[in-house]
Amino acid sequence: MTKSLKTLVILIAASLSLAAFAQTDEQRAAIIERIKPHGQVCMAGDSSCATATVAAASGPRSGEDVYNAACMACHSTGAGGAPKLGDVAAWTDRIAKGRDVLHDSGLNGVAGTGMIARGGCMACSDEEIVAAVDYMVDGSQ
Ligand code: HEC
Repeated sequence: MTKSLKTLVILIAASLSLAAFAQTDEQRAAIIERIKPHGQVCMAGDSSCATATVAAASGPRSGEDVYNAACMACHSTGAGGAPKLGDVAAWTDRIAKGRDVLHDSGLNGVAGTGMIARGGCMACSDEEIVAAVDYMVDGSQ
């Protein structure tokens, strides 16, 4: 390597490392924003996430909201024999068992059926599941 080439390499290296230090806080924040993962994991109960799972600062969701988010897939179509919202005949015998039994089914599921515990909504609070059951029961009699 000639002497002038060596000098050039050193100069380039120096200016690159200088550039790395020359960032403002703003630029650094912009870079961090750009390279952060796309789908950030938000654990149940972690209210620090932007789209906090369920029990966000706004409090529990209404039964209707929970129904739309977690129960509708089966309970609006009747998938797997799920009693449909508004289908009075399908709910009469169930409602006769009493609200407590139905709340329990919502929370713990119905063994041996497609009704799994919490309708599969593990991020839903007990209060929200009970509200969703009440919403379905009230709308089906
Ligand atoms: C994967 C499909 C599925 C989802 C999602 C689902 N359910 Fe169900 N659900 C069913 C099926 C199937 C039954 C009928 C079970 C049976 O045969 O008694 C049922 C029955 C019920 C019953 C009546 C149980 C009884 O004791 O008679 C309640 C209450 C209920 N679901 C609440 C909910 C709530 C609340 C949610 C949402 C948080 C939900 N379900 C989500 C499939 C589902």
